[in-house]
Amino acid sequence: MIPTVEWKDGVVRLLDQSRLPNSVEILECRDYQTVARAIRELKVRGAPAIGVTAALGVALGAQAVQGPTMELFTKAVFGICQELAATRPTAVNLFWAIDRMKRVLSACQENPVALVKQRLLEEAQTILEEDIAINRAIGTHGARLLQDGQRILTHCNAGALATAGYGTALGVVRAAWEQGKQIHVFADETRPVLQGARLTAWELKQDGIPVTVMTDNMAGALMRQEGIDVCIVGADRIAANGDVANKIGTYAVAVLAHVHGLPFYVAAPSSTVDLNTPTGDAIPIEQRDEQEVRTINGGPAVIPDGVAVWNPAFDVTPAKYVTAIITEKGIVRPGYEELQSII
Ligand code: MRU
Repeated sequence: MIPTVEWKDGVVRLLDQSRLPNSVEILECRDYQTVARAIRELKVRGAPAIGVTAALGVALGAQAVQGPTMELFTKAVFGICQELAATRPTAVNLFWAIDRMKRVLSACQENPVALVKQRLLEEAQTILEEDIAINRAIGTHGARLLQDGQRILTHCNAGALATAGYGTALGVVRAAWEQGKQIHVFADETRPVLQGARLTAWELKQDGIPVTVMTDNMAGALMRQEGIDVCIVGADRIAANGDVANKIGTYAVAVLAHVHGLPFYVAAPSSTVDLNTPTGDAIPIEQRDEQEVRTINGGPAVIPDGVAVWNPAFDVTPAKYVTAIITEKGIVRPGYEELQSII
């Protein structure tokens, strides 16, 4: 598959997800401001992917800083970190990746600026490569939970497109598929931005994994009438008590899964666990532009002018509805105290 994000010849290249599935376009970012805009406008999205992209954005920005002294260079790069951190508030991976870049900068203060620029780029590339390896490990652990012939419901896109590659929830699906398990994915379309319809369906189709898309309000009927065996989603932030922030609508899927006695799994790298956030109530939820709700994918308005809309990008699923959290370090079960020891 085309990489979601990569560094090539001094440029951060992003697969522009706002254009999928109708057009496959690469956005070339030659300055960190373009990277920041791409994150804000969901040209790149998904918690691990925005972390990796922000790290590359810091490295890109640093290359252009002409600070004659280390002090001025450091100040400028910290400013870049701050701007990139202000792009989206919910996915903790963004702050985690930027903090890693800041730590490298702080540790290299005795070195020449040229060397520090090189170290920052190396760190960003390491974060990218690690992400793919982590997702493969999540896939290996998670595939044990899936049986041949199962029907799997997912929400939003927690796939290769949401990461540097392979995916988290869809990494589990991919790993099971690679083991020869004949599975079928049901993808919620995921209003308002349609990550399920546009992105999950696109990337599973690329891999030949059977996928059916339905609107979000069909999940309950699907579970009751047609049968779903298991739900798997990704996460933007997991609080210390196991509460999970993920794409708006995830909570409804979790409650439906609970009512129908279905396992509800969350697949995420350990960098998504935020021990500084005690419960889901403390997770900042991004409110996005109302235009996303007023139209469907930028088409004509579907809501009368002047009528108010509400557009939170994420919701919180209480830990009590989460059957297990699949990380690269293994499968964590309730009551989630174990999260403390995997970080
Ligand atoms: O607004 P988005 O598209 O960035 O939201 C993405 C999600 O909610 C994903 O499910 C989450 O980031 C996990 S991605 C592996």
